[in-house]
Amino acid sequence: MQAFTFATSQSIICESGAASRLAKICQQQGAQSVMLITDPGIEQLGLHRNALDSFNKSNIAVQVFSDVQADPPESIVFDAITIAKESNVDAIIGFGGGSSMDVAKIVALLAHPECKQQLADIYGVNNARGERLPLIQVPTTAGTGSEVTPVAIVTTGETTKMGAVTPLFLPDFAILDAELTMGLPPHVTAATGVDAMVHAIEAYTSKIKKNPMSDLMAKEGLRLMAGSIQTAVHHGADKKAREAMLLGAMLAGQAFANSPVAAVHALAYPLGGHFHIPHGLSNALVLSHVMRFNLAAAADLYAELAPIIFPHETFSGSDIEIATKLIENIEVLIKDLGLPTTLKEMNIEASYLPQLAQDAMLQTRLLVNNPRDVTFEDALAIYQAAY
Ligand SMILES: NC(=O)c1ccc[n+]([C@@H]2O[C@H](COP(=O)([O-])OP(=O)(O)OC[C@H]3O[C@@H](n4cnc5c(N)ncnc54)[C@H](O)[C@@H]3O)[C@@H](O)[C@H]2O)c1
Ligand SMILES: [Fe+2]
Repeated sequence: MQAFTFATSQSIICESGAASRLAKICQQQGAQSVMLITDPGIEQLGLHRNALDSFNKSNIAVQVFSDVQADPPESIVFDAITIAKESNVDAIIGFGGGSSMDVAKIVALLAHPECKQQLADIYGVNNARGERLPLIQVPTTAGTGSEVTPVAIVTTGETTKMGAVTPLFLPDFAILDAELTMGLPPHVTAATGVDAMVHAIEAYTSKIKKNPMSDLMAKEGLRLMAGSIQTAVHHGADKKAREAMLLGAMLAGQAFANSPVAAVHALAYPLGGHFHIPHGLSNALVLSHVMRFNLAAAADLYAELAPIIFPHETFSGSDIEIATKLIENIEVLIKDLGLPTTLKEMNIEASYLPQLAQDAMLQTRLLVNNPRDVTFEDALAIYQAAY
């Protein structure tokens, strides 16, 4: 068997309503002064109310940093670090989608009293040193899986993002409280849910680090999410569907944290960078076209996933035939979820495609994981097919 490593968050609590126990969990970590990091949308909805109530009943001080923006820019990260240091907080809670959780990871590391590093020092793989503050992650979207990934992503320029990867970003606790996701609007549920499904699909076909544990997580994550995404989008108050999506997204996160994503994400990132298309929707727009391109190298693996994603469909024939039918079904699913399906619908000019292809080629960290090598011409052809 090929050697592999599998790492994940230290403790995972999967329990509806668990956010109301946050103060107790922080107490276990010996915390006295906590910073909860979130975004204005979540603050306005009051999703963190039960969590804050739990602190009011305890002797732990809590302050809320609610300035996180989607695809967080460096300036927001700096602001949060400064406030955390000034207030001598001794534990960090990330409360929100991937954006809030990613900021929380970096603050937990760089606001540690012993930390001598700056944000710029930790970009890349395994460049972070030392210790971090206790870190608790509470996802409110069923998407990024950031609560179990060693990655934080920051927007560094007009159109560029940088990632920092370190096992220090795996939190002490990941808390999956599906009640927090009940009010997620349909379009956000759809986009973040497709993102999570892409994490599982790309982890399953990842070229270098694919391993038996990631495969297990990817398959179970896909089974759960494929079976509930329609209900979660169209009947958002269905608690069972919300629970399945949140757990499925976390499993997909565990899968790709240890068997990384590839060309779908590499081609999705430039769409987010240039046109501020939400991450999950960017993935949805290129997914089927990258899968068709990958057929020559991954048809057998796609064929294995087909009956898991669409258990009520009859699949027969060669791997290529089964995989092709899977891709067609995925296209129908994305449409049924109410997501746009072409780059044209996103008002992207066709003349922009070569620039996007050029940018996608810079995502070498992701492209090396793709089952089939991608050239500039290939990337351009995929964007053209997605147009
Ligand atoms: N660390 C990782 O492993 C990883 C992986 C993939 C993506 N990312 C990053 O994560 C970010 C995207 O995260 P995301 O897709 O979760 O979205 P997000 O955190 O950017 O949030 C999107 C919007 O959803 C709203 N929202 C969140 N939860 C809600 C709820 N329960 N009810 C109503 N509204 C709610 C927020 O207020 C916000 O307006 C990007 O910055 C991306 O680069 C990180
Ligand atoms: Fe993603």
